[in-house]
Amino acid sequence: MSKNTVLALVGSLRADSHNRKLAEAIQLNAPEDVDVQIYGSLGDIPFYNEDIDVEGQVPAAAAALRAAAAEADTLLFVTPEHNGTLTASLKNAIDWLSRPYGAGALAGKPTAVVGTAFGQFGGVWAQDEARKAAGIAGAKVLEDVKLAVPGSMIRFAELHPKDDAEVVEQIKGIFEPLTAVQEEEVAA
Ligand SMILES: Cc1cc2nc3c(=O)[nH]c(=O)nc-3n(C[C@H](O)[C@H](O)[C@H](O)COP(=O)(O)O)c2cc1C
Repeated sequence: MSKNTVLALVGSLRADSHNRKLAEAIQLNAPEDVDVQIYGSLGDIPFYNEDIDVEGQVPAAAAALRAAAAEADTLLFVTPEHNGTLTASLKNAIDWLSRPYGAGALAGKPTAVVGTAFGQFGGVWAQDEARKAAGIAGAKVLEDVKLAVPGSMIRFAELHPKDDAEVVEQIKGIFEPLTAVQEEEVAA
C-alpha cells in the first residue's frame, strides 16, 4: 500500500511550541496509509532574497526545505497567529517554496493549514493568510481542512494536544480532506 506522505511545516520556532505539539498529535493520529513527517525547523532558513536564490548556490537550509517539500505528496502548515497574520518564519518558507517562479515546490502541491493560537478564534486570520499566500504561489489549497484551536497558552499549558480528547477528535476529521486529492489521482 503506497502511503500518502504529508510534510508538516511548523510556523513557530519556540522550543515548547504548542503548534509543534499539535503537529505531533496529528502525526500520532494519522491513519495507517498516511505518513506525517514534521519538518525540523524553519528557523535556519535565511530570509528570502533573490540575490541568494541562485541556481547551484541556494543556501543549504533553503535547498533542503525545497527538496523535502517537493518529495511530499501534501504539505500541512501548522501555525500560530502573530499580530493577526501568519508568522514570519512560515511566510519565509512559502516564499522559498514559491520559486523558481511557476516551478517551485508549491506549484500544484496540495496544501492545508491548521494551527492553534491564543486568541478566541485559534488563529484563523493567520490560517487564511497562509492559504492566500500558498494559493498565490500556485499551491492547490485544501480549503476543507479546518482545525483552529483557541486558547493555546492556557489549554496546552499542562496538556499535550495528543491527550486532549476534543482536539484528537477534530484531528481525526482532517485526514479525509487532507488526502482526498491524492486518492482522486490514484483512482483516475
Ligand atoms: C509576537 C506575537 C504575536 C502574537 N499575536 C497573536 C495574534 O495576533 N492572535 C493570537 O491569537 N495570538 C497571538 N499571539 C499568541 C500566540 O498565538 C500564542 O503564543 C501561540 O501559542 C504561539 O504558538 P506556539 O505555542 O506554537 O509558539 C502572539 C504571540 C506572539 C509571540
